[in-house]
This record gives sequence, C-alpha cells and structure tokens, in this order.
Amino acid sequence: MAYSMKEEIARRRTFAIISHPDAGKTTLTEKFLLYSGTINTAGSVKGKATAKHAVSDWMEIEKQRGISVTSSVLQFEYDGCVVNLLDTPGHQDFSEDTYRTLMAADSAVMVIDGSKGVEPQTRKLFKVCAMRHIPIFTFINKMDRDALDTFDLLDDIEKNLGVATCPMNWPIGSGKRFQGIYDRELEDVLMYSDTRKGTKEGHEERIPLSETARLGEVLGGEALKKLQSEIDLLDGASEPFDLDEVQAGMLTPVFFGSALQNFGVEIFLHHFLRMALPPTPRVSDQGPVDPYAEDFSAFVFKIQANMNKAHRDRIAFLRICSGKYDAAQEVKHAQSGRVARLSQPQQLMADDRKVVSEAYAGDIIGVFDPGLYGIGDTFCMPKATFRYEGIPTFAPEHFARVRQVDTMKRDQFVKGISQIAQEGAIQIFRESGMGMEEIICGVVGVLQFDVLKFRLKNEYNVEIILEQLPYEHIRWVAKWDGDVKNIVGTSDMKRIEDLKGNPLLLFINEWSVQMVLDRNKGLELAEFRKN
Ligand code: G4P
Repeated sequence: MAYSMKEEIARRRTFAIISHPDAGKTTLTEKFLLYSGTINTAGSVKGKATAKHAVSDWMEIEKQRGISVTSSVLQFEYDGCVVNLLDTPGHQDFSEDTYRTLMAADSAVMVIDGSKGVEPQTRKLFKVCAMRHIPIFTFINKMDRDALDTFDLLDDIEKNLGVATCPMNWPIGSGKRFQGIYDRELEDVLMYSDTRKGTKEGHEERIPLSETARLGEVLGGEALKKLQSEIDLLDGASEPFDLDEVQAGMLTPVFFGSALQNFGVEIFLHHFLRMALPPTPRVSDQGPVDPYAEDFSAFVFKIQANMNKAHRDRIAFLRICSGKYDAAQEVKHAQSGRVARLSQPQQLMADDRKVVSEAYAGDIIGVFDPGLYGIGDTFCMPKATFRYEGIPTFAPEHFARVRQVDTMKRDQFVKGISQIAQEGAIQIFRESGMGMEEIICGVVGVLQFDVLKFRLKNEYNVEIILEQLPYEHIRWVAKWDGDVKNIVGTSDMKRIEDLKGNPLLLFINEWSVQMVLDRNKGLELAEFRKN
C-alpha cells in the first residue's frame, strides 16, 4: 500500500522502553517483534546474556556496546503503524546516552516487575520523561510470579513517580494463582494460558463479566467475588480515563501481563499504539517545527564512536523531526553550515543494519560522522536557518580527578579528553578559576571511567590515573547575582566550572544542596542544564 508523506508520518510511533534491569524489557521487546512478524521465534533477540557479564576489559565493553547499539533502535510494523523502538541501555552500560535516548522518543513504555514495584533506575529515567511531558504507558510484568497487591502497586507508582494511574485491565491473582486479566473496556475476562509460549498462535478465551455462572466455574467462587469487589472499588476510586491527560504525560494507563508467557502483551501493544502520539512539533529557536512540513529536519541525539573497530567510525544518530529524508538530497549541518549528502545513512532492524534511501519524521537514522557533529546538533534543508533546542546536560553521579602519568603529553591528553567529552560519554570540569591542569571528570555510569582510561591509552597513547572523588550530587548555578565565590557553602561542597566557564557546585550529601539554597537567598540550582 502506498502512503503519502503525511500518512507515513502520521503512522509513526517512536517510543523508548524504560525499566530497571531484569524487569523484562528484553523479553517484552522480543514479543513485540514476534507479533509484528519481524522475528519468527522467541529467543532471537540477542544481547541479554552477554550484557549481563561483568565488564572487565575493552573488548567486553565494545562487545557490549555493539550489542546495545544494534538493538538500540528497532523498527517494525504493527497494525498499520510503523513503530520505532528505542532501547535505553541499563546495567553497567547506564550512561548519559540512556537519558538522551529519551529526548528522541515521543512516548515511553515503563516496564515494572510486579513483585518489586518502582525501582531506582526506572525512577531516574521517569524523571526525564516527566521533564518532557511525554505520554508514559505502564506494563506491569511477571504476573505469573507472586506479585505485590495490585492497589499497592498503583499506589507505589503514584507516590514514587508523581503520576496518576489508570488501570486499563486488572489482574486476577498472581503467581500460581494467576488466572487472567479483566479488560475494563470490553468488560470481559481474558483467561490466562501459557500455551502460547514463544508463538503468536494459541487459544485465547474471553468470558464476559456478565456470565457470572461460567466465570464462577472457571475462576472459582472466591476469586470471582474478589474480582467483583475490586472492580467496584476501582470504578469508584481510580482516575477516569482521559486521553488528553495521557498524552500530556499526567496519567499513565496501566496494563498487566507476563511478557515471558506471552500474556497481555498483544492487548498492551494494541492499546498503546492507539493512544500514543505520532510525531509532534519540536521546539526550535524559531518556534515549533511542524513534523508534517515538506522540509526535512533532524537533530543528533547520540554519537557512538568506534562501532566497528576496523573502520574507527563514528555514527551519529539522528531523530528526524519533520518531512521526509531522501538519501539523494543535500542537507545542512546547521552548526558548521556544511551542506552535503549524509554519508551511509542506516537504519537498524532487529540485529541487522540496512542502508536507507528514505525515512520520515519520527524515524531514527544513523549516519557516518566525519568528526564534525555534536550531540543536539541540527540538520535541515540548505536554505533553512533554525536550530533545534539543544539536549540538556544531565547530572553525572560519579566523579574522579584525572591526572596524566606523563605530563609531556599535555596536548594529546587535552585533545583526547575533550573529544571524548564531545561525544558525550563523559563530562569534564575544572576547579573554579583553574586551567586544564587538573580535570574533574563526571559520569552517569561508572563503566564510563574504564572506557575513558582505555580509549585515552588506545587512541591517544595517553595514560591517566583516576582518583575517585566522594561527590555524588552536582548542580548548575542557574541564578545567582554576583560572584560564585560569595555563595555560602557547606563543608562538603566544592566549586567547579565546565569548560565554557559555567559555575557548578558538587556535594557529597544531598541534604547539603537544600542547606546551601537556604543559606543563599536568590540562589537557584538546576539538575539539568539546557544547552
Ligand atoms: P531486562 O531486559 O529488563 O533486563 O529483563 P529480561 O527481559 O532479560 O528479563 C529478566 C529475566 O526475567 C529473564 O530471566 C526473563 O526470562 C525473566 N522474565 C521476563 N519476563 C517475565 C515474565 O513475565 N515472567 C517471568 N516469570 N519471568 C520473566 P533470566 O532467568 O534472568 O534470563 P533467561 O535465562 O530466562 O534469559
């Protein structure tokens, strides 16, 4: 079927999956691919087993990165939609890239382990989604295992994440007593069966809630009674469904199921694609840009170096924000003014890369980076003059002082560390008022320290010593009249600045942040910095 450009854009759904490691993100992704016909059997999505290995050397890191990259953007078709699924790497690979990926998504799927509730990594990622006000859809997974009380789970999401919940379906029991889900829209019970394992086929039984005799027979009198009273409670107490609130990121629709047992996944996918937004206007310095406009535009949300050791290549990942990308057309890199065709545009499908000749707003493409591109950069038509809002810099949580072993290699060191910082894997700072003699490096995930050390040695022939610092909290000075030297600090506070000279404060204890705010009237501190 041939679609017009506008239809192509309108059928795009670009989303990221967020979860704490082990909640079932990989399994759920695999089931999505299975339903879309992208893969034929479960177990085809690679990466999980390898990603779990402790990372001890660069080869492993690279292997892991390779995997997280090939599986980092997947495209598939389902129900007439073209779905772009962005993976957010977790485990030790957790980095600023994980946050940045969320900047490229139009909505998010939050996977929660029903026996654990909201966990730390989900909380961190959720914060970024909330900052962008994108719709968030919740899948409570592993209902075939003993789960927490359903009302408690919803309460946990509301209290922990500050978002209202609206259950779209309701589980009947969990673990060994898991019997299915009640569909609130259709008012029927979808009976649980694990016979559909690994396939799309299988028997699916739905029983209307009104058929109480039949339900009592299959569920058991007690389970039915419990379900009926829970439905009453729910209808009385839960937030009513409101699509506008969902799309504004204020209400999260909640679904229950078991990704492993293939249960509840298809329903989730169906509803999710119906409720999630197609590409929406993105903000530029000249106002919002209409995704349906004819002219192509995109921004870089991630740069991956050395994806292929043989080529020492750098790939920039572009999120297309408007129009159609055509490989034959020349486009402008707004930051350098350079007009050219993008080199080797690729799209990633399951674990394959393929060269693309066209793509639409909502899609992600990877292009060869000649070393010119930076995170947040804009691509547009040669005559266009706008730039997209930059991607914020996220607060690193681990800090180390970086020293060179051989001080004669000063230039290489500064060049190396600056280039690696430009890719966005690390952030570098210096002591307030000092030069580059002593650099403080901040990372979101500690693995990045190993990557830095290895890459400086391997690519720039520079050896470094990293001395980890006890700071865990960083704040940009968003507003302060006068000299930062005059900020009254705490004993665990350190003043630093980024390479542009913007002042920052480091703290060991989180409560010191509030103390410093209390002590300095008019001071405003920020956790993210808009670039
Ligand atoms: P992640 O990507 O979020 O880190 O999680 P992943 O899907 O890899 O799932 C983590 C573990 O939880 C896996 O088991 C997976 O099989 C299991 N799992 C996922 N969904 C469900 C579910 O709905 N029910 C149950 N019972 N288990 C689920 P593993 O033993 O760590 O790995 P594997 O040996 O099965 O691959």
